[in-house]
Amino acid sequence: MACGFLIWTCVAFAKPQPQAYAVSSAHALATETGLSILAQGGNAYDAAVAVSAALAVVEPASSGIGGGGFWLLHSHDDQLSVMVDGREVAPGKAHRDMYLDESGAVDRDLAVNGGLAAGIPGAPAAWDHIAQKYGSLPLAVLLDPAIQLAEQGFPADEKYVTLLAMREGVMNRWPETAAIFMPSGEVPQVGDLIVQPDLAKTLRALADHGRDGFYKGDVAEKLVAGTQAAGGIWTLDDLARYEVKERQPITTEYKGYELITAPPPSSGGIALAQMLNILEAYDLSGMSSVERIHVISEAMRRAYRDRALYLGDTDFVDVPVDLLLSKDYAAGLRTHLRIDRATPSASLANDPTVWPEGDNTTHFSLIDAEGNMVSATLTVNLPYGAAYAPPGTGVLLNNEMDDFSAKAGEPNAYGLVGFSANAIEPYKRMLSSMTPTIVRSDERVAVLGTPGGSRIITMVLLGLLDFIDGNGPMSWVSVPRFHHQYLPDSISIEPDSLSPETIDGLEALGHQVQERNRTWGNMHGVMWDISTNTMQAAHDPRWSSGGAEVVETVER
Ligand code: DON
Repeated sequence: MACGFLIWTCVAFAKPQPQAYAVSSAHALATETGLSILAQGGNAYDAAVAVSAALAVVEPASSGIGGGGFWLLHSHDDQLSVMVDGREVAPGKAHRDMYLDESGAVDRDLAVNGGLAAGIPGAPAAWDHIAQKYGSLPLAVLLDPAIQLAEQGFPADEKYVTLLAMREGVMNRWPETAAIFMPSGEVPQVGDLIVQPDLAKTLRALADHGRDGFYKGDVAEKLVAGTQAAGGIWTLDDLARYEVKERQPITTEYKGYELITAPPPSSGGIALAQMLNILEAYDLSGMSSVERIHVISEAMRRAYRDRALYLGDTDFVDVPVDLLLSKDYAAGLRTHLRIDRATPSASLANDPTVWPEGDNTTHFSLIDAEGNMVSATLTVNLPYGAAYAPPGTGVLLNNEMDDFSAKAGEPNAYGLVGFSANAIEPYKRMLSSMTPTIVRSDERVAVLGTPGGSRIITMVLLGLLDFIDGNGPMSWVSVPRFHHQYLPDSISIEPDSLSPETIDGLEALGHQVQERNRTWGNMHGVMWDISTNTMQAAHDPRWSSGGAEVVETVER
């Protein structure tokens, strides 16, 4: 990696070498895949491609070859970071009002189910790009473990089954898709084998021909025909012209730590930086739990308001990035943040709504023995994406188009509102909340991220605050979660996560507190403690399927 390369962010740090490597992902089989690539001498970027492809097979509810994502790469040798943007784009025939019915209302079914809901996938192009530009092993070697898993099958786990039960009805509209994921005709039992021969063939085409194996030729033709047969508007040209983008990460500084995180078209990095800029004026650790949750929620509220108003794909719209990231702007936002009173969102603007819990999408974190890191969050959006796989491809389509604002001010599946900055346009990338992040000082480095739709950014905030408080990854991934997203105007909390006294205290300040009936998120973190030269990895205890492991390369 050349330091002269414009897109990379240069940071000066001393360069100790770890004597271990570590992978944490949402599936033990994907973690094993990453570890085996590292064991055979692959670097972090090789491992990232192999883990992404393995997750595409064994965690189809969350991410896949028919979806997209953001891969934040950090090279230890040159201290450079880049975000590989493999986000989906709107097809060429997409237009602003494509999900509105005759009365002007959003047709939610069209927005999330079947062919019209799918953006042009970015994941396969990103794997190819990362392998060619940063990897050290051939793409075919990196995809081989995923091909084996698709051909030989893997046992359905609790997450596969739970999330499929939520999408069963929709998937049954397309019997050929249902036959892949429900081979017995119904939602499988935990332990049932899921074999995906068509997906294996598509992965092989990618392994043999690079991105052209997916975006051109036989696979592309089947994808276009199948998508159109299910109400979609994809063309061969849409696939052929898909481009991966390399973006300069958002960086900010918080209490002596440097944060490296996701730039647009994710909203995550900007929102995270804004929240931290607001919070840096407070002594959070000296506060009562009511005060602390109040102040953090007020920072969340303000960042999510700006997300709704200003953020979108910077290749298409002007986003005031420098302003939003400035410490002065945060100081302005603090002027109306009262320590003794909630600020009603209505005094900042608009309507409340509902959003579902989220733990599909996937995140993995890894560090290789040279200290290179990858923090990657990948998605097909809702569980099992659009619930449709074009026949003969095994490619489950994403329903990422719902991350656009289908109508100004109208909530999407996560209750997120948006306006013209995130309106649909041909080839535009839909705004994301995915926030793969690296937080570092001279002494400690954290690699972390999570799925969870609109709640991703607030989970990463709580996780990194816990890291900065001195804790390790098992603690960050476990911290009880609370969330405010401007609209609806309430603090959402995990079941039994706050005492009745704390809830009373927040309500007395004017907050509405909503205890959800389930937890959310699936955070995967790795930490390298440079001062002791030790590594730790942890997966979210909320799901049993995750795998987190550290392998020592020298005897201590
Ligand atoms: O890009 C985004 O922000 C969403 N498509 C992510 C969806 C997600 O995290 C679903 N998980 N609950």
